[in-house]
Amino acid sequence: MLRSIFRERLFDGHVIMISGGGSGIGRAIARELAVLGATVVICGRTLEKLEAVKAEIEAEGGKVHSIVCNIRDEEQVKQLFAQILEKCGRIDALVNNAGGQFLSPAEAITAKGWNAVIETNLTGAFFMCKAAQQVWMKEHGGAIVTIVADIWRGFPNMAHSGAARAGVVNLTQTLALEWAQYAIRINAVAPGLIDSSGLSKYPPEVQAMLAQLPRDIPAQRMGTEREVAAAVVFLLSPAAAFISGETLKVDGAGSLYRLQGYVIPEHTAWESYGEDS
Ligand code: ADE
Repeated sequence: MLRSIFRERLFDGHVIMISGGGSGIGRAIARELAVLGATVVICGRTLEKLEAVKAEIEAEGGKVHSIVCNIRDEEQVKQLFAQILEKCGRIDALVNNAGGQFLSPAEAITAKGWNAVIETNLTGAFFMCKAAQQVWMKEHGGAIVTIVADIWRGFPNMAHSGAARAGVVNLTQTLALEWAQYAIRINAVAPGLIDSSGLSKYPPEVQAMLAQLPRDIPAQRMGTEREVAAAVVFLLSPAAAFISGETLKVDGAGSLYRLQGYVIPEHTAWESYGEDS
């Protein structure tokens, strides 16, 4: 049985939506919130993954619904929130965890690849925030947390995702201002290198490189999915009642140290810069 560091029953009676809840960090967040008494709703594109997490949460005594939804499609997002209201009668909080990207140098990203990543990580998160605000939070208040990434010194080999996540950080600030009048708090969590199930999707050579990366983190290890979940729970909880528009790094101080895994190729391209002639 999962034991949470937070007070038992902290989210009793609350309904919390978690996108991308079928694996990795989303699954960890959903399990943690369910153990704390929330009714969790997990969405994603793959029914089997959602059903597996649903069974796991139920086995831990939690209350959970799973709904298939592609967050890139605003109609599907509207339907999702209509179904949550129908099933659960309220929607107290939203965790925008769904995301995805692929490794590529910027110059090789096609329009299709670029748009897909922007739509998932930025536009999809916006659709989710907007729907939650429209159907419930505008009238009743609420809390939103979006998962971003360690993008503070650029995001080499993932330019599309870095641009989308930076967009989300600014969107978080804007919505914190526009929606303060509705008692909606909105924050983001920026995980560093996390030992999550998502890492296994990378090819073996990338995984071998990833295994070396903890050397470049002051904490000298990867973070865990549950450490990210704990930051999300904190931001959703009354402990964060005066926090809005903030992005909380969960990275073992990694963003203060070396840029993990990216080495500038040796070159002399700047030699002629700064010459007088
Ligand atoms: N997880 C990754 N991409 C997603 C999408 N487009 N919709 C829902 N969950 C996702």
